[in-house]
Amino acid sequence: MSGVEEENILARHKNKWDVLAKENDRYYVRSVHHEQSDEEYEASGKKNVEEHILNDPILMAKLGCLAEKNVLEIGCGSGRITRTLSKHFMNVAALDISRTMLEKARYFVNEENVIFLESNGEDVPLFPASVDFAFSFIVYQHFPTKEAILHSFRQVARSLKPGGVFKVQVRGIANPDPKHWAWGPHFTKEDGLALANSAGLKVIELRGEGSQYFWMLLEKS
Ligand SMILES: C[S@@+](CC[C@H](N)C(=O)[O-])C[C@H]1O[C@@H](n2cnc3c(N)ncnc32)[C@H](O)[C@@H]1O
Repeated sequence: MSGVEEENILARHKNKWDVLAKENDRYYVRSVHHEQSDEEYEASGKKNVEEHILNDPILMAKLGCLAEKNVLEIGCGSGRITRTLSKHFMNVAALDISRTMLEKARYFVNEENVIFLESNGEDVPLFPASVDFAFSFIVYQHFPTKEAILHSFRQVARSLKPGGVFKVQVRGIANPDPKHWAWGPHFTKEDGLALANSAGLKVIELRGEGSQYFWMLLEKS
């Protein structure tokens, strides 16, 4: 694929997520019901942080004291998870492709230790070796191409400090309808290993291969 083709795909993808965010950000972030109160929305993010970060002993052993760590969240949406991350980590860089999602996130997350970053869909505008931990949930499952996912993983690897970790969920099973708004590429276990390797990241643990929630815990050497 040429650079121009890839740019066009990402521009359309950005527009798509802006349209969805304007229509109903909370529904397209967490597709349970169309109306979600602040309390319910925050509680669902808190539950995800507990399940995927605080209650993951391998990850917690790698991270040590969270209050001294900088975290990068890829695909923060309207701040559902960001709000809880800001309570545990020293600083949060919360990145999304959609400007509208980010506007809503700024409104929902009013903490001084959070910065919001708008991306073109694959770049991470941070200094190299500036974050201890990167996290992403229900985001890469929506990326338009595997090329953009690899580019993004390489950018995350660049932003991690040596010894920094990336806990990331990708789609592990095909979504059969390419026209569905939620469509995105999927990865077999072998694809996941190749992706990590091409991004220069070491695999610490894989979980949920073959399901929608294929989790990878990766480390920068
Ligand atoms: C289903 S929402 C999940 C949001 C958040 N992770 C959460 O769980 O609350 C997916 C988010 O990923 C963002 N997104 C989709 N493709 C992206 C890309 N290529 N780069 C950055 N963000 C992207 C969307 O704008 C949307 O906010």
